[in-house]
Amino acid sequence: MTDSVIMNLCKKSDVPKDGGFKVEKGEFSLAVFQVNGEFFVLDDLCTHGPGSLSQGYLDEYIIECDFHAGCFDVRNGEVTAPPCMVPARTFKVVFDPEDVVIKVPQSSSTE
Ligand code: FES
Repeated sequence: MTDSVIMNLCKKSDVPKDGGFKVEKGEFSLAVFQVNGEFFVLDDLCTHGPGSLSQGYLDEYIIECDFHAGCFDVRNGEVTAPPCMVPARTFKVVFDPEDVVIKVPQSSSTE
């Protein structure tokens, strides 16, 4: 069974319109993007290697990893250009007037 927790990442004004913003929170290293006034949050670590997506090149909804130029759609994490094969994990952004806030699924199992 899964539950979820609300996590406040940063101010909306911290996030540049043309690039990513890296946020470290506990075990999470996240990349926050702003496109057309909407905010999107993905794991910062590229699924292909050591690239940091927050350091990549943002073109509308596509983030290009600066390591080997693989690309992901920030809306859903889908791969849009190789060499990446595995989608990036995305997080649901919940409405807040000033901050970027996400909902993080958490396992409530005690295994
Ligand atoms: S590490 Fe991101 S494309 Fe290779």
